[in-house]
Amino acid sequence: MFATLTKLKTTPKIPLDLFKEIAALKQEMNAIILAHYYQDADLQDVADYLGDSLGLSQMAAKTDADVIVFLGVHFMAETAKILNPHKQVLIPDMQAGCSLADSCPPKEFAAFKAAHPDHLVVSYINCTAEIKAMSDIICTSANSVKIINQIPKDQPIIFAPDRNLGRYVMEQTGRDLLLWQGSCMVHEIFSERKLVELKQIYQNSQVIAHPECETSVLRHADFIGSTTALLKYVQNHESSTFIVVTESGIIHQMQKAAPSKILIPAPPEHDCACNQCPHMRLNTLEKLYLAMKNRTPEITLNESTRLAALRPIQRMLEMS
Ligand code: 13P
Ligand code: SF4
Repeated sequence: MFATLTKLKTTPKIPLDLFKEIAALKQEMNAIILAHYYQDADLQDVADYLGDSLGLSQMAAKTDADVIVFLGVHFMAETAKILNPHKQVLIPDMQAGCSLADSCPPKEFAAFKAAHPDHLVVSYINCTAEIKAMSDIICTSANSVKIINQIPKDQPIIFAPDRNLGRYVMEQTGRDLLLWQGSCMVHEIFSERKLVELKQIYQNSQVIAHPECETSVLRHADFIGSTTALLKYVQNHESSTFIVVTESGIIHQMQKAAPSKILIPAPPEHDCACNQCPHMRLNTLEKLYLAMKNRTPEITLNESTRLAALRPIQRMLEMS
C-alpha cells in the first residue's frame, strides 16, 4: 500500500506523449539535444548527448544537426552558438543563468585585466561571452590542469572567474595564479562538518567532489574531477558507497550507469535543497517542448563578440 502511494507520488505530472512530441520535433527540425548532468532526470533522459562542459563543447563543435537544443545554462548554450553561428541554438528558459558567470561582470573584469597587462587570461568556461572575448584561453573543470601545465612557467596568469577551481589548479600545478574572486552558489554551500560526520558513518565510502567546492571540503575528497570524471569514477571504482559532493542531478546518471552502487548526496550547510542548481532547474520538459515547437528562446550574439570569444575556445579545443 505504502509502496503504491510512493509510486503514485513520484509518477511524473507531465503527459507521457510529450516525450513522443519532442522526438517528432527533433526529427522534423534535424535537431540535436545536448544536456548537462545537472538537469532534471526527464531532461537527461531525452538528450542525445549528455556531458560535462568540455564534452558538450566538443559535441557542439562537431555536430551536423541544423538546430542545437541546449539543456543547460545560458553560458553553455552561448558557447554552442559561438561555435555554430549558422545554426539555431535554443534553450528552454532564457533565464537559466549561472551565479559563477554573474560573479564576473565584464566592466570590472576589463579593469582588472588592464591593471595586469603582462598576464595571460585563462577563463573557466562558466563565464559570459564578453569575458571569453577578453580571455586568451578557455578551460573547463576537465582540462584546467592540463591547460595551465602547457603555459610556460615564467608567464604570469590571471585565472577567472572561479576562485575555488583556481586554488585547486594552483595546488595541482604548483603555479601561482592571480585569481578573480568568483564562485558558484551551489558548490560553496556544502558543509564540511556534515561531510565529516557522514564519512564517519559510511567509513568505507569514497568522497568524490567537484573542484568548484571550497578547499575545506575538497581536502576530504578521495577523488576530485569534472562531472564526467566523477561519473566514470563511480562506474570503475570497486567501492560500493560514494558521497557525492556536487549538484545532485548527476546522481540520476550515476544510478543508471552503476545501479548496484549506493550514492549519497553530500549535505548542504542548511536544511535546504541548495545542492540543486536553481538556474539549471529552470528548464523543464514542458519548456523544452515549447522551445522546440515555437523555436524560441533562441541564443543570439553580436558578431564581433562572437569572433573574439571563439578564438580562446578554439585554443582550448586544440589544447585539450
Ligand atoms: P562540468 O560538468 O564541466 O564539470 O561543470 C560543472 C558545472 O558547474 C557546470 O555548471
Ligand atoms: Fe553555475 Fe554553479 Fe549552477 Fe554550475 S552549478 S550552472 S557553476 S550556479
